[in-house]
Amino acid sequence: MGKVIAVANQKGGVGKTTTSVNLAAGLAYLGKKVLLIDFDPQGNATQGIGASRSSFKLSAYDLLLSDKKASDVILSIHQPPLSLVPSTIDLAGADLEMVEYKQGKEKLLKNKIDPIKDHYDYVIIDCPPSLGLLNTNALTAADSVIIPVQCEYYALEGLTQLLSTIRLVQRLFNPHLIIEGVLLTMYDIRTRLSVEVSQEVRKYFKERVYKSTIPRNVKLSEAPSRGQSIFEYDVRSEGAKAYAALAKEVLKYNGG
Ligand SMILES: Nc1ncnc2c1ncn2[C@@H]1O[C@H](COP(=O)(O)OP(=O)(O)O)[C@@H](O)[C@H]1O
Ligand SMILES: [Mg+2]
Repeated sequence: MGKVIAVANQKGGVGKTTTSVNLAAGLAYLGKKVLLIDFDPQGNATQGIGASRSSFKLSAYDLLLSDKKASDVILSIHQPPLSLVPSTIDLAGADLEMVEYKQGKEKLLKNKIDPIKDHYDYVIIDCPPSLGLLNTNALTAADSVIIPVQCEYYALEGLTQLLSTIRLVQRLFNPHLIIEGVLLTMYDIRTRLSVEVSQEVRKYFKERVYKSTIPRNVKLSEAPSRGQSIFEYDVRSEGAKAYAALAKEVLKYNGG
C-alpha cells in the first residue's frame, strides 16, 4: 500500500522543499519506490532534483486541472532513482481556476493520485507556503502530514492555524489524515533559541516529534543549485546524515 505524505507548513522558508527532496531521495536510496510531487508553483523541488524546464511539457497544473492522468505527467529521475511530478508557475493560477468548480474542488489531486498510489511505497507532496486550495488538495490526497518547524524566532507562530486547517480537512474531506511527524529543521546546537524551540515543540507534540533533527548545514542550501539531492551533492555532510536518519525513522514508523 502506497503511503501519501504531505510536507506542509504555510510559512515559507521552513524547510518543506529541502525535506521533501531529501526525504524522497533518502527513501529511494533505501530501496523504496518513491513519487515526489512538486505542488508549489515556485517549482523549487523540481529544480532542486535536477529536472530542467525543457525536460517536460506537462506539470502538476495539468495533473490537477486537465484530464491528463498521473502517468502522463510523471518524469523519471535517475539520481536519485525516483519519479517526479514537476511544477511550474502555471500552478499559481490553479487556485483561482478551482474556485469556479462548484463541487469536488478539494479532491482534484486525490482523484488523480488514488489510482496510482499503490505503484509506489511513498508519495511525497511538497506543499506551497499558503493555506489555500492547493494545500487543501494536498492534505485531502494525503494519508499523513510531516510538519517542518524551523528552529527560529516565531517558529510556533502559525502552527495553530496549520493545525486547525488539518482538523478542518479531517472533518470535511479526509477523516483518516494523521500527523506523521513534526521535524525540527535548521537546528543549531550552539544557540539557546534552537534548544528552546525544540523543547517547546516537544512539549506540545511529544513523541510525534522526530528524533532526527535537521541541523543548519550549508551543504543543504547549496545542493539545489546543482539540481542534486544532498546524497549526490555531499553524502558525508551533516545534512546528508540527518536526512538519511530521518528516512530510516520514517520507514521504522511505517513498519519498515
Ligand atoms: N537545514 C538547512 N540548513 C541550511 N539551509 C537550509 C536548511 N534547510 C533549508 N535551507 C535553506 O533555507 C531556504 C528555505 O528552505 P526551503 O526548503 O526552500 O523551505 P520552504 O520550502 O519551506 O520554503 C532554502 O534556501 C534552503 O536551501
Ligand atoms: Mg518550498
